[in-house]
Amino acid sequence: MALKINGLGIMPEDTRICVVMVGLPARGKSYIAQRAQRYLKWLSVPAATFNVGNYRRTNAPHPPANFFDTNNAEGERQRRAAADAAITDMLKWFKSGGVVGILDATNSTKERRKWVLERITSEGIEVIFVESRCDDEELVMANIRDVKTSSPDYVGQDPEQATLDFRERIRNYEKVYKSINEDKDEDHLTYLKIMNVGKQVFINRIQDYLQSRVVYFLMNLHIRPRSVWLSRHGESMFNLDGRIGGDAKLSHRGEEYARKLPELVRESVGSDRPLTVWTSTLKRTIATARHLPKHYNQLQWKALDELDAGVCDGLTYQEIADQYPEDFAARDEDKYNYRYRGGESYRDVVIRLEPIIMELERSEDILIISHQAVIRCIYAYFMQKTQEDSPWVPVPLHTLMKLTPRAYGTELQTYKANIKAVSTWRGKGSTAKHEDPSPEGGI
Ligand code: ATP
Ligand code: F6P
Repeated sequence: MALKINGLGIMPEDTRICVVMVGLPARGKSYIAQRAQRYLKWLSVPAATFNVGNYRRTNAPHPPANFFDTNNAEGERQRRAAADAAITDMLKWFKSGGVVGILDATNSTKERRKWVLERITSEGIEVIFVESRCDDEELVMANIRDVKTSSPDYVGQDPEQATLDFRERIRNYEKVYKSINEDKDEDHLTYLKIMNVGKQVFINRIQDYLQSRVVYFLMNLHIRPRSVWLSRHGESMFNLDGRIGGDAKLSHRGEEYARKLPELVRESVGSDRPLTVWTSTLKRTIATARHLPKHYNQLQWKALDELDAGVCDGLTYQEIADQYPEDFAARDEDKYNYRYRGGESYRDVVIRLEPIIMELERSEDILIISHQAVIRCIYAYFMQKTQEDSPWVPVPLHTLMKLTPRAYGTELQTYKANIKAVSTWRGKGSTAKHEDPSPEGGI
């Protein structure tokens, strides 16, 4: 059997999965689809979402609620045509190398699921249904107000009117909605059913490794409000010298940052609410965390240690260019994939960070104090930076970032300590010891 390797591990080369979302409107299907896609793409698994609503909008951009009434023959025809077009495009995408395709639609009747299943499995693609059920009326109304009134369906309309119309749209779906296996005749399907945002989860016939990884990730998602704070360690003695790697102590200014950090954190949290602090196992991150309040839980993770520069550990960029000119050029050519001799690449770092991301998805309010390359990889996950761009993102010293996940995307706030530090950013081709980042793409 031919095998392939990606960020989730080794799997048969022909593994292809279609995740088919199921559920009434405003149940977080698009939210779940977008999170799964972001996670998979970050791990280099080719993933894409096909949102049937976007296809429907080409013919029916602002449909009234009765468009979704099953007695409305024209509405039914157009909705079916939109689903058909989305599936056709998805199947083409699978042929061009896609591995996990997500079909984002309500798929709320048995007939629709049967049709979808047949079309997709006839191409040799596995299907896993992911249903989000939610009968918390307050949460559904909050979802409508949060995301639906600003949907392209309601552009230029009064939000109150839009809310009422959307509630009416849901009623039309409710008339025909069947939860998966509600009638006990869909037991042959592979599915994950998430009830009331994860209060209960049902899993049926999950078969292989990739399916179980996707399911495990989805089971860890939550929507409780929270943020993730990221900071590099304070300036180190190696930073002052322009040396990479090592396990150096903080400089005087780095120490000053460590003392200022509690105040910066308090300002960005906006209260005395404690955070959980994760550092690497290296001296400079542990020292940076040491003045934080004692009641903050602290944990050291080896996975948060800086990218291992192998034989180049402890050298300056100029020394690397002199001693390993080919490696120096190769790294600039493809920084994400370049692996230091005896060390790591950015791709390697992402793979070792996977458990950190999984844990972050499960958790609330975490402050991570780590290193330039590691912070870039975590930042890339939340801010959806490409593999090409992420290794070049400027992450200045003495700056705290606050990332707050929202329904669609992540909000970023930065807090500067106003304590001078050298820049450790390096532009392509440069061997400068300390270089100012180019203005574009900065945090
Ligand atoms: P539609 O069918 O109209 O496209 P949808 O089910 O895709 O609706 P989303 O657009 O994803 O709904 O709704 C996003 C909102 O759902 C967000 O406010 C998010 O916090 C919330 N949400 C996320 N996950 C869940 C869940 N499991 N149950 C209920 N709401 C959720
Ligand atoms: O210079 C500080 C540092 O954290 C080094 O220890 C590490 O090798 C480097 O940054 C990673 O940045 P880049 O990938 O841009 O060389």
